[in-house]
Amino acid sequence: MTSLSITDISDYLKEQEQKSYLRFITCGSVDDGKSTLIGRLLYDSKLIFEDQLAALEKDSKKQGTQGQDIDFALLVDGLAAEREQGITIDVAYRFFTTDKRKFIVADTPGHEQYTRNMATGASTADLAIIMIDARKGILTQTKRHSFIVSLLGIKHVVLAINKMDLMSFDQEVFKKIGEEYRLFAKGLGFEEIVSIPLSALKGDNILKISENTPWFRGPSLMDHLESVQIDTNEAEKPFRLPVQWVNRPNLDFRGFSGTIASGSIAEGGEIVVLPGAKTAYVNSIISADGNVRNAEFGEAVTICLDRELDISRGDVISKVDSRPEITDQIQAHIIWMHEVEMLPGRPYLIKTNNRTLDGVITDLRHRVNVNSLEHESAKTLALNEVGLVNIKLGQKIVFEAYVENKTLGSFIIIDKFTNATIGCGMIKFGLRRASNVHWQAVDVGKESRAKQKHQSPKLLWFTGLSGSGKSTIANLVEKKLHAMGKHTYLLDGDNIRHGLNKDLGFTDADRVENIRRIGEVAHLMVDAGLIVLTAFISPFRAERRMVREMVGTGEFIEIFVDTPLEVCEQRDVKGLYKKARAGELKNFTGIDSPYEEPEAAEIHVNTVEFSADEAAEIVVNKLGY
Ligand code: ADX
Repeated sequence: MTSLSITDISDYLKEQEQKSYLRFITCGSVDDGKSTLIGRLLYDSKLIFEDQLAALEKDSKKQGTQGQDIDFALLVDGLAAEREQGITIDVAYRFFTTDKRKFIVADTPGHEQYTRNMATGASTADLAIIMIDARKGILTQTKRHSFIVSLLGIKHVVLAINKMDLMSFDQEVFKKIGEEYRLFAKGLGFEEIVSIPLSALKGDNILKISENTPWFRGPSLMDHLESVQIDTNEAEKPFRLPVQWVNRPNLDFRGFSGTIASGSIAEGGEIVVLPGAKTAYVNSIISADGNVRNAEFGEAVTICLDRELDISRGDVISKVDSRPEITDQIQAHIIWMHEVEMLPGRPYLIKTNNRTLDGVITDLRHRVNVNSLEHESAKTLALNEVGLVNIKLGQKIVFEAYVENKTLGSFIIIDKFTNATIGCGMIKFGLRRASNVHWQAVDVGKESRAKQKHQSPKLLWFTGLSGSGKSTIANLVEKKLHAMGKHTYLLDGDNIRHGLNKDLGFTDADRVENIRRIGEVAHLMVDAGLIVLTAFISPFRAERRMVREMVGTGEFIEIFVDTPLEVCEQRDVKGLYKKARAGELKNFTGIDSPYEEPEAAEIHVNTVEFSADEAAEIVVNKLGY
């Protein structure tokens, strides 16, 4: 080993610092050879430390799939779960460096279900390597990944046509796949597609041009990765700092911290904080290196201002002359990432720019067919499907279109009950139309209307299976309340489905819309000062909770009419269970459509032990009138 002098080391470090970064991602199906490719890149460019290599050789002998050869996939498939199942289940970021460039690679899983991880990895990448198995050619998966890569704004694509050794390095095979891909990708807006014939396993065309492909003029994969020019002008874009937290260690110091999403800022500059729109000047900027005069895109900073402003997490600081937009309605592409389908009208959480807000997908404009890239009409999105949607948010957000700014233009969709990430989205634009509709103030309010009726308004929400006795009990309860002089109204499933909701069937999406409309109507009636009774199966927790949140605290009384399926089926008053069992009625609750029981209903009614009349009596007593 040669010893390095001090100047050598500082030269070396300087050289390292000046090297540009390339962030890339690899996408492909499970056995296209993705992990092998990355392993090969690392191994051939001698980037693996000796001890890692020794462990690898040992591991390969033990559990590899390549006999006595080194199994490169083992090198990168770090996750135990993957080793067991043979699939990658998370994004693994790897850093490596060559003489010319530094690299960050997001190794993303190829299994159909794991689009989520791919989207995560792709969101920060400059280039995507799309892996193709030369024996199989272009698959639906290839198209889906390419479409997502394009949605996420990646402009540079390498079509890595792998396993060419198994196709005798046939030029025709390579040409045909390349041509087919280009035809498909025409509408995807890539700036550059470079096809390379590879054998990741054998090393052909990875570092240098292989003798096995004399017809291929290059570049090799590594040559291309080292030389591809990526124009990033993020620092030249307008300044955006989404505030991640307000830093107040003591009374004398108050700074606003976050990572600069685009542009640059200098000491003394005038800024505006959105959505509040208050302005101030920058007193100081603190970065990882201490006080600095300027800071730009990608840096994590704390900014101190010349005056006290009320700023909170999720606000965005920009310069006064180039502000981002503000809206509470957006149009966006979303990628659905969950087994439970996306349902317009269902309340979700939307997380963007350090803020989490309520959000509802009000409209699915279209679904994109990933094979043809055609727009299809659809009511829902299933796992891995992509669609264009309108979203209504609970509050205003500061945003930019995703093509302008990836940070301010992206969001994730979260399930309200499980907190799982179930989708991600890229904003196309803000929708302005709703902001022209104002809430009209009226002088006679809920309170005065209720007072005139000598009652407090309530929403008695009966839920349970078809034939559980909801309508019968609700009807008896209304009769009793009416006799007591109460002002009531009963909304009943079958009746509403004859009028207001006659356009709806029994798919999950239609049931969500059914309950959403009933919720709105019931809300208005509660506002009118009435005691409203509803009798709908209302099978989903999410929508029952949504209606609960629409009305005032304590006004929503959930009444679970708990009749076991066997009993409902035995009674079968309308003969529907029989039809459902015979397969004549699809999506029947309890048979082939789910019912999610209430977990904490205010009133629980047992119809096996009690008659309908007794049950109604119990309900009225519990209400305390
Ligand atoms: S909900 O699920 O959307 O809340 P809703 O209470 O409005 O349902 O309507 C349920 C009533 O519609 C049932 O009591 C039954 O009479 C009738 N019905 C017809 N088809 C179905 C079905 N596939 N599933 C459940 N109920 C059905």
